[in-house]
This record gives sequence, structure tokens and C-alpha cells, in this order.
Amino acid sequence: MKTLLILFVVFPLILSAQNPKKYVITKTHEAITIDGSDTEIAWRNAIWTDCFVDIEGEKRPNPYLTTRAKMLWNDTCLFFFAELEEPHIWANLTERESVIFHDNDFEIFIDPDGDTHNYIEFEINAFGTEWDLLLPKPYRNNGPPLTAFNIKGINSAVKIFGSINNPSDKDEKWTVEIAMPWNSLLETKQKSRRIPMDGEIWRINFSRVQWETEVVDGKYVKEKDPKTGRNLPENNWVWSPQGRIDMHMPEKWGYVMFSDSIQNKETQEDFEIKDTAIINEIWELYYKQKLYYMKNKAYTKDLEVSENTEIFVGKQQFEIIIKVPGTNRSYYINQDGWFRKEIEEKR
Ligand SMILES: *[C@@H]1O[C@H](CO)[C@@H](O)[C@H](O)[C@H]1NC(C)=O
Ligand SMILES: *[C@@H]1O[C@H](CO)[C@@H](O)[C@H](O)[C@H]1NC(C)=O
Ligand SMILES: *[C@@H]1O[C@H](CO)[C@@H](O)[C@H](O)[C@H]1NC(C)=O
Repeated sequence: MKTLLILFVVFPLILSAQNPKKYVITKTHEAITIDGSDTEIAWRNAIWTDCFVDIEGEKRPNPYLTTRAKMLWNDTCLFFFAELEEPHIWANLTERESVIFHDNDFEIFIDPDGDTHNYIEFEINAFGTEWDLLLPKPYRNNGPPLTAFNIKGINSAVKIFGSINNPSDKDEKWTVEIAMPWNSLLETKQKSRRIPMDGEIWRINFSRVQWETEVVDGKYVKEKDPKTGRNLPENNWVWSPQGRIDMHMPEKWGYVMFSDSIQNKETQEDFEIKDTAIINEIWELYYKQKLYYMKNKAYTKDLEVSENTEIFVGKQQFEIIIKVPGTNRSYYINQDGWFRKEIEEKR
């Protein structure tokens, strides 16, 4: 009981700085024209996310350009709208499936199950060139990116407020509007391959990759580090800070809740995620197992845990189960970072 108490007191402190963002996605019955403009009444009423922050969180300076996004849905599609303040709009890549983050880009990450496996990554640059891929597992768990994957039926548009690849003037921003059909998104789900129900929660994150550039001979070029001669590292600006330069930690992404309501109630943004302390606890145990493995090339049964926790360890595997006291809910995680909740049926 004592350990349990300590866990409950300590973990919220460690993690409070990095609680994932939340957003309620309201429904629309209005036709949404994918043209890069948010002129529809539904878009006008949709609430913007908080402005993006640096991926590493508060230890780095705030982004010097504003980025924000909003979302809507109907029974066919999930819609995204993003606004990227940018005095110098440029793009180079024109071929679909190019490595888009070599240009400045806007990125969306979607994990419908919230199990950190089988998630979608989508990137787009100011030319509107797209790259979509499927991650069966995060890179940290040796997941190969499946680049042949396509979000079938995706529709996107970029609008340029200024000029593209013209350093002689100052630009304002570029906006991105995207419709992703449920048909395609739902293929990544293990079960319940139906459109979201009112109150359903998914994990989503956004990121903006921004390179430092300068003008040479009338062209934008990436700024180089004078010492190494290599490109300066890119900025990674995100909706929900990850704490480190890695977007592939789906457990840190934002929570989005689908609402049947077309009315955006600000208070809805405070929806509760059940069992947060236990979810944080099981992830801490996962990180500890990984650290232990790095040092010892094996997993361990020997972690300090609360009393409703079980740890199973094999040579290359582990499973941790935490039962929520007084309920029929249990949380599971394994060596692949495959996270899930099980609800025991009453007999
Ligand atoms: C959802 O919106 C899209 C774009 O406006 C439209 O084509 C589609 O018919 C809508 N679906 C429903 C069920 O209203
Ligand atoms: C765009 O591509 C051209 C041609 O490869 C290159 O010279 C230029 O540096 C690129 N611009 C940026 C900003 O990377
Ligand atoms: C987005 O991902 C970054 C990196 O994983 C994380 O820090 C941030 O909290 C995430 N934000 C949201 C809203 O998911």
C-alpha cells in the first residue's frame, strides 16, 4: 500500500509538465470544400489548438513563428486545417512520397486505437506534395515504416498567402486543409472498424518541421553550420511537446475526442482521461525495463511496483499488467510498447 501511495504522489509530479493536450472534434453537417480556406461556418466555429511549442518542451525557446490547427469530422471523413505563419514560403519537393521533411512541412500522426502500434504519419509541404506512411510499431521497437501505404481517397489543398520561392517579398502564411476518409483510417484498427462514436477517444499529434534558411543569389537555401559545413538542425514544433526530439512516442500524443455535437463547448476540452496515473505508471515501468535491458541485455521482474501490478519476464519479452483497484479494468504493456486496456466482462 505504501508503494502505491508513493507512486500516486510522485508520478503526477514527474509527468504533469508533459500531460498530453486534449481537443474535442465537433461534427459538421456542412459540405467542406477542400481548397485551403477555412471559410465554411463549421471551420469558423471550430476551436484552434494551442499554438505549437518546441518538441523538447519548456527547456527550449518557444517557436518564433505561430502554428496551430483545428479538426472536424462527418460520417465520411476526418478534416484537418492548419495555419503556418511564414515570412519566407519555400518548397522544393514535387514528387508524391518524397521525404517531405527535407522541406519545411506540416505533419499529422494518427493512432486510432491508442495502442501505439499501427499508426499513420502524413506530411505535406507548401507545394501540397504529400507523403503518407504506416508505422506498424514505433522505430524504437524496430518498426519498419511502410511507405507503400496510402491514405486512399485523401484530399488536400494548400493556400499560399504570399509567394512561393520568391525571397524578394515578405510572405504571411500558408494554410493546409485535408480530408481523410474513414475507410482508409479504419484499416489501421485492430477491432471496431467503424466510424467513431460520440465520446470516442483517439491519439493524434501534429508537428511542423522548420529549417533555418538564408537567401543566396536570390534563392532560399538551408543555413549551414560554419564549423561543420552541414545544414543547421531543423526545428520541430509540435502541438503536444514530447520532451525529446522524437515524434514516434505515441503515448505522448494529444487525446482527441469525437463529439456528435456541432456546437463547440469550450468546457468539453476538459474531458477526463480515465486512470491517467496508472497509464503513466505503466509507461514508466516500460521505460525502466528498456533502460534495464540496455545495461543488462535482459528484462527484469525486479521493479518497484504497486500491489496491483504483475510482471512476466521471458528472455526477450516482458508483459506488465496493472489492474485498477476496485474496477474490472486492466492495463497491459509489453516489450514492443504495445499498450492496451482490457475490460473484464461481468459473468
Ligand atoms: C462529409 O464531407 C464531405 C466533404 O464535404 C462530403 O463529400 C461528404 O458527403 C460528407 N459526408 C457526410 C456523411 O455528410
Ligand atoms: C531547393 O533545391 C535546390 C536544387 O536542388 C537547392 O539548390 C536548394 O538549396 C534547395 N532549397 C532549400 C531551401 O533547401
Ligand atoms: C506531439 O508529439 C510530441 C512529440 O511526441 C509531444 O511532445 C507532444 O506532446 C505531442 N502533442 C500532442 C498534442 O500529441
